[in-house]
Amino acid sequence: MNNKAVVSVNNLFKTYGGRNSAKYEALKGINLEVQSGEFVGIMGASGSGKTTLLNLIATLDRPTSGEIRINQQDILNLKKNELSDFRAQELGFIFQDFSLLENLTAAENIALPLTLTNTKKAQIDTTVLQVAQKLSIEDFLSQYPAQLSGGQKQRVAAARALVHEPQLLLADEPTGALDSNSARDLLELLTEINQASNVSILLVTHDPFSASYCNRILMIKDGVIGNTLKRDSKTRTEFYQEILTDLGTYR
Ligand SMILES: Nc1ncnc2c1ncn2[C@@H]1O[C@H](COP(=O)(O)OP(=O)(O)OP(=O)(O)O)[C@@H](O)[C@H]1O
Ligand SMILES: [Mg+2]
Repeated sequence: MNNKAVVSVNNLFKTYGGRNSAKYEALKGINLEVQSGEFVGIMGASGSGKTTLLNLIATLDRPTSGEIRINQQDILNLKKNELSDFRAQELGFIFQDFSLLENLTAAENIALPLTLTNTKKAQIDTTVLQVAQKLSIEDFLSQYPAQLSGGQKQRVAAARALVHEPQLLLADEPTGALDSNSARDLLELLTEINQASNVSILLVTHDPFSASYCNRILMIKDGVIGNTLKRDSKTRTEFYQEILTDLGTYR
Protein backbone atom coordinates (compact mmCIF):
# COMPACT_ATOMS: atom_id res chain seq x y z
CA MET A 1 0.00 0.00 0.00
CA ASN A 2 1.16 3.53 -0.77
CA ASN A 3 1.34 5.29 2.57
CA LYS A 4 0.95 8.74 1.02
CA ALA A 5 -2.61 7.89 -0.02
CA VAL A 6 -5.46 9.87 1.55
CA VAL A 7 -7.62 6.76 1.45
CA SER A 8 -6.30 3.25 1.38
CA VAL A 9 -8.70 0.31 1.48
CA ASN A 10 -7.39 -3.23 1.67
CA ASN A 11 -9.37 -6.46 1.13
CA LEU A 12 -12.61 -5.04 2.50
CA PHE A 13 -15.61 -7.30 3.13
CA LYS A 14 -19.04 -6.37 4.41
CA THR A 15 -21.73 -8.92 5.17
CA TYR A 16 -25.14 -7.70 6.33
CA GLY A 17 -27.56 -9.79 8.34
CA GLY A 18 -26.75 -13.02 10.15
CA ARG A 19 -28.27 -14.72 13.20
CA ASN A 20 -31.97 -14.06 12.64
CA SER A 21 -31.92 -12.62 9.11
CA ALA A 22 -30.49 -13.84 5.83
CA LYS A 23 -26.82 -13.01 5.23
CA TYR A 24 -25.92 -10.77 2.34
CA GLU A 25 -22.34 -10.20 1.18
CA ALA A 26 -22.44 -6.59 -0.03
CA LEU A 27 -18.65 -6.13 -0.43
CA LYS A 28 -16.35 -8.97 -1.40
CA GLY A 29 -12.72 -7.91 -1.15
CA ILE A 30 -12.46 -4.26 -2.18
CA ASN A 31 -9.03 -2.67 -2.72
CA LEU A 32 -8.65 0.99 -3.60
CA GLU A 33 -6.52 4.04 -3.05
CA VAL A 34 -7.23 7.74 -3.38
CA GLN A 35 -4.15 9.96 -3.68
CA SER A 36 -3.97 13.47 -2.31
CA GLY A 37 -5.90 15.87 -4.55
CA GLU A 38 -7.60 13.18 -6.61
CA PHE A 39 -11.29 13.30 -7.62
CA VAL A 40 -12.36 9.65 -7.77
CA GLY A 41 -15.75 8.28 -8.80
CA ILE A 42 -17.40 5.05 -7.79
CA MET A 43 -20.00 3.85 -10.27
CA GLY A 44 -22.17 0.78 -10.37
CA ALA A 45 -25.73 -0.45 -10.66
CA SER A 46 -28.25 -0.08 -7.85
CA GLY A 47 -27.40 -2.56 -5.08
CA SER A 48 -23.78 -3.04 -6.20
CA GLY A 49 -22.40 -1.81 -2.86
CA LYS A 50 -21.50 1.85 -3.50
CA THR A 51 -23.16 3.35 -0.43
CA THR A 52 -21.95 0.46 1.71
CA LEU A 53 -18.38 1.22 0.66
CA LEU A 54 -18.72 4.97 1.18
CA ASN A 55 -20.29 4.52 4.63
CA LEU A 56 -17.40 2.30 5.72
CA ILE A 57 -14.84 4.89 4.56
CA ALA A 58 -16.96 7.58 6.25
CA THR A 59 -16.61 5.66 9.54
CA LEU A 60 -20.41 5.47 9.77
CA ASP A 61 -20.37 1.66 9.72
CA ARG A 62 -17.79 -1.09 10.32
CA PRO A 63 -16.63 -3.74 7.84
CA THR A 64 -16.79 -7.48 8.48
CA SER A 65 -13.07 -7.65 7.68
CA GLY A 66 -10.34 -5.69 5.92
CA GLU A 67 -8.40 -2.48 6.47
CA ILE A 68 -9.22 1.19 5.95
CA ARG A 69 -6.63 3.93 6.36
CA ILE A 70 -7.38 7.63 5.99
CA ASN A 71 -4.29 9.84 6.05
CA GLN A 72 -2.25 6.89 7.30
CA GLN A 73 -4.63 6.54 10.25
CA ASP A 74 -6.10 3.07 10.81
CA ILE A 75 -9.69 4.19 11.39
CA LEU A 76 -10.93 0.77 12.50
CA ASN A 77 -8.73 0.93 15.59
CA LEU A 78 -9.84 4.37 16.75
CA LYS A 79 -11.87 4.57 19.96
CA LYS A 80 -15.37 6.04 19.84
CA ASN A 81 -14.37 9.57 20.98
CA GLU A 82 -11.25 9.55 18.76
CA LEU A 83 -13.46 8.54 15.87
CA SER A 84 -15.89 11.43 16.30
CA ASP A 85 -12.98 13.91 16.49
CA PHE A 86 -11.42 12.33 13.44
CA ARG A 87 -14.69 12.54 11.52
CA ALA A 88 -15.23 16.15 12.59
CA GLN A 89 -11.73 17.23 11.52
CA GLU A 90 -10.80 15.18 8.48
CA LEU A 91 -14.06 14.40 6.67
CA GLY A 92 -16.81 16.29 4.89
CA PHE A 93 -20.06 14.71 3.69
CA ILE A 94 -22.64 15.52 1.02
CA PHE A 95 -25.71 13.32 0.61
CA GLN A 96 -28.42 13.06 -2.03
CA ASP A 97 -31.11 14.32 0.36
CA PHE A 98 -28.96 17.31 1.57
CA SER A 99 -29.39 16.27 5.25
CA LEU A 100 -29.72 19.86 6.44
CA LEU A 101 -31.29 20.52 9.83
CA GLU A 102 -34.64 22.17 9.13
CA ASN A 103 -34.79 24.23 12.32
CA LEU A 104 -31.39 25.84 11.72
CA THR A 105 -30.69 28.65 9.23
CA ALA A 106 -28.33 28.07 6.30
CA ALA A 107 -25.57 29.84 8.24
CA GLU A 108 -26.16 27.70 11.34
CA ASN A 109 -26.16 24.54 9.23
CA ILE A 110 -22.87 25.53 7.60
CA ALA A 111 -21.35 26.35 10.99
CA LEU A 112 -22.12 22.89 12.46
CA PRO A 113 -18.72 21.24 11.83
CA LEU A 114 -16.98 24.25 13.44
CA THR A 115 -19.18 24.22 16.52
CA LEU A 116 -17.93 20.66 17.06
CA THR A 117 -14.32 21.91 17.22
CA ASN A 118 -14.32 24.69 19.87
CA THR A 119 -13.95 27.48 17.31
CA LYS A 120 -14.82 30.96 18.68
CA LYS A 121 -18.10 32.60 17.57
CA ALA A 122 -16.47 35.51 15.71
CA GLN A 123 -14.14 33.13 13.88
CA ILE A 124 -17.09 30.90 12.96
CA ASP A 125 -19.03 33.86 11.51
CA THR A 126 -16.05 34.98 9.39
CA THR A 127 -15.34 31.47 8.12
CA VAL A 128 -18.99 30.76 7.29
CA LEU A 129 -19.21 34.00 5.32
CA GLN A 130 -16.01 33.19 3.39
CA VAL A 131 -17.17 29.74 2.35
CA ALA A 132 -20.66 31.07 1.53
CA GLN A 133 -19.14 33.70 -0.77
CA LYS A 134 -17.11 31.01 -2.50
CA LEU A 135 -20.31 29.03 -3.17
CA SER A 136 -22.40 32.15 -3.98
CA ILE A 137 -24.91 31.57 -1.19
CA GLU A 138 -24.12 34.59 0.99
CA ASP A 139 -27.57 36.07 0.25
CA PHE A 140 -29.45 33.08 1.73
CA LEU A 141 -27.50 32.68 4.94
CA SER A 142 -30.34 33.72 7.24
CA GLN A 143 -32.93 31.54 5.48
CA TYR A 144 -34.14 28.13 6.59
CA PRO A 145 -33.77 25.05 4.34
CA ALA A 146 -37.53 25.00 3.58
CA GLN A 147 -37.12 28.45 1.96
CA LEU A 148 -34.39 27.28 -0.43
CA SER A 149 -34.44 25.48 -3.79
CA GLY A 150 -32.83 22.05 -4.19
CA GLY A 151 -29.74 23.53 -5.83
CA GLN A 152 -29.39 26.17 -3.12
CA LYS A 153 -29.81 23.53 -0.40
CA GLN A 154 -27.10 21.40 -1.96
CA ARG A 155 -24.74 24.38 -2.08
CA VAL A 156 -25.44 24.97 1.62
CA ALA A 157 -24.70 21.29 2.20
CA ALA A 158 -21.47 21.63 0.20
CA ALA A 159 -20.49 24.69 2.27
CA ARG A 160 -21.12 22.70 5.46
CA ALA A 161 -19.01 19.83 4.10
CA LEU A 162 -16.09 22.17 3.35
CA VAL A 163 -16.19 24.81 6.10
CA HIS A 164 -13.69 22.98 8.33
CA GLU A 165 -11.33 22.33 5.38
CA PRO A 166 -11.43 18.54 5.49
CA GLN A 167 -8.79 16.41 3.72
CA LEU A 168 -11.47 14.25 2.18
CA LEU A 169 -14.94 15.00 0.85
CA LEU A 170 -17.31 12.03 0.58
CA ALA A 171 -20.34 12.52 -1.63
CA ASP A 172 -23.11 9.96 -2.20
CA GLU A 173 -25.23 10.82 -5.27
CA PRO A 174 -24.99 14.56 -4.46
CA THR A 175 -26.73 15.49 -7.72
CA GLY A 176 -29.43 12.83 -7.42
CA ALA A 177 -32.16 15.26 -6.39
CA LEU A 178 -31.04 18.18 -8.60
CA ASP A 179 -32.17 19.39 -12.02
CA SER A 180 -29.50 19.27 -14.71
CA ASN A 181 -28.42 22.92 -14.36
CA SER A 182 -28.02 22.72 -10.59
CA ALA A 183 -26.23 19.39 -11.00
CA ARG A 184 -23.77 20.94 -13.45
CA ASP A 185 -23.17 23.92 -11.11
CA LEU A 186 -22.47 21.64 -8.18
CA LEU A 187 -20.09 19.43 -10.17
CA GLU A 188 -18.19 22.47 -11.45
CA LEU A 189 -18.00 23.75 -7.91
CA LEU A 190 -16.62 20.44 -6.64
CA THR A 191 -14.04 20.44 -9.44
CA GLU A 192 -12.96 23.98 -8.55
CA ILE A 193 -12.65 23.17 -4.86
CA ASN A 194 -10.76 20.00 -5.65
CA GLN A 195 -8.27 21.90 -7.81
CA ALA A 196 -7.97 25.07 -5.74
CA SER A 197 -7.79 23.65 -2.23
CA ASN A 198 -6.53 20.14 -2.88
CA VAL A 199 -9.44 18.44 -1.09
CA SER A 200 -9.61 14.85 -2.28
CA ILE A 201 -13.09 13.80 -3.37
CA LEU A 202 -14.74 10.40 -3.45
CA LEU A 203 -17.99 10.63 -5.40
CA VAL A 204 -20.55 7.83 -5.58
CA THR A 205 -22.85 8.07 -8.57
CA HIS A 206 -24.68 5.99 -11.10
CA ASP A 207 -24.86 9.01 -13.41
CA PRO A 208 -22.30 9.07 -16.28
CA PHE A 209 -22.51 12.86 -16.55
CA SER A 210 -21.52 13.34 -12.89
CA ALA A 211 -18.81 10.70 -13.22
CA SER A 212 -17.28 12.51 -16.21
CA TYR A 213 -16.00 15.22 -13.81
CA CYS A 214 -13.75 12.69 -12.04
CA ASN A 215 -10.07 11.96 -12.75
CA ARG A 216 -10.62 8.25 -12.31
CA ILE A 217 -13.67 6.00 -12.02
CA LEU A 218 -13.87 2.66 -10.26
CA MET A 219 -16.64 0.41 -11.57
CA ILE A 220 -18.18 -1.73 -8.87
CA LYS A 221 -20.34 -4.75 -9.62
CA ASP A 222 -21.82 -7.13 -7.04
CA GLY A 223 -19.44 -5.95 -4.34
CA VAL A 224 -16.26 -6.22 -6.41
CA ILE A 225 -14.32 -3.51 -8.27
CA GLY A 226 -14.11 -4.38 -11.95
CA ASN A 227 -12.39 -2.03 -14.33
CA THR A 228 -11.06 1.48 -13.83
CA LEU A 229 -11.47 4.34 -16.27
CA LYS A 230 -8.96 7.19 -16.31
CA ARG A 231 -9.65 10.60 -17.71
CA ASP A 232 -5.97 11.50 -18.30
CA SER A 233 -5.82 14.34 -20.85
CA LYS A 234 -9.23 13.64 -22.38
CA THR A 235 -11.81 16.42 -22.41
CA ARG A 236 -14.79 15.92 -20.15
CA THR A 237 -17.01 15.24 -23.17
CA GLU A 238 -14.63 12.59 -24.51
CA PHE A 239 -14.49 10.99 -21.08
CA TYR A 240 -18.29 11.06 -20.85
CA GLN A 241 -18.49 9.15 -24.16
CA GLU A 242 -15.96 6.63 -22.88
CA ILE A 243 -18.03 6.08 -19.72
CA LEU A 244 -21.20 5.56 -21.76
CA THR A 245 -19.42 3.04 -23.98
CA ASP A 246 -18.02 1.23 -20.96
CA LEU A 247 -21.44 1.03 -19.30
CA GLY A 248 -22.84 -0.39 -22.52
CA THR A 249 -20.36 -3.24 -22.46
CA TYR A 250 -20.35 -3.64 -18.69
CA ARG A 251 -24.01 -4.18 -17.98
N1 LIG B 1 -28.50 -2.42 6.42
C1 LIG B 1 -28.58 -3.38 5.50
N2 LIG B 1 -28.99 -4.62 5.80
C2 LIG B 1 -29.07 -5.61 4.88
N3 LIG B 1 -28.71 -5.46 3.59
C3 LIG B 1 -28.29 -4.24 3.21
C4 LIG B 1 -28.20 -3.14 4.13
N4 LIG B 1 -27.74 -2.05 3.45
C5 LIG B 1 -27.56 -2.46 2.18
N5 LIG B 1 -27.87 -3.76 2.03
C6 LIG B 1 -27.77 -4.56 0.79
O1 LIG B 1 -26.45 -4.49 0.31
C7 LIG B 1 -26.42 -4.32 -1.11
C8 LIG B 1 -25.63 -3.05 -1.44
O2 LIG B 1 -26.37 -1.91 -1.00
P1 LIG B 1 -25.87 -0.43 -1.23
O3 LIG B 1 -26.78 0.48 -0.50
O4 LIG B 1 -24.42 -0.36 -0.89
O5 LIG B 1 -26.05 -0.31 -2.82
P2 LIG B 1 -25.80 0.95 -3.76
O6 LIG B 1 -24.79 0.53 -4.79
O7 LIG B 1 -25.51 2.17 -2.97
O8 LIG B 1 -27.22 1.09 -4.50
P3 LIG B 1 -28.05 2.42 -4.98
O9 LIG B 1 -27.44 2.83 -6.29
O10 LIG B 1 -29.43 1.91 -5.15
O11 LIG B 1 -27.92 3.47 -3.90
C9 LIG B 1 -27.87 -4.28 -1.55
O12 LIG B 1 -28.21 -5.55 -2.05
C10 LIG B 1 -28.65 -3.96 -0.30
O13 LIG B 1 -29.91 -4.57 -0.33
MG1 LIG C 1 -26.51 4.00 -2.65
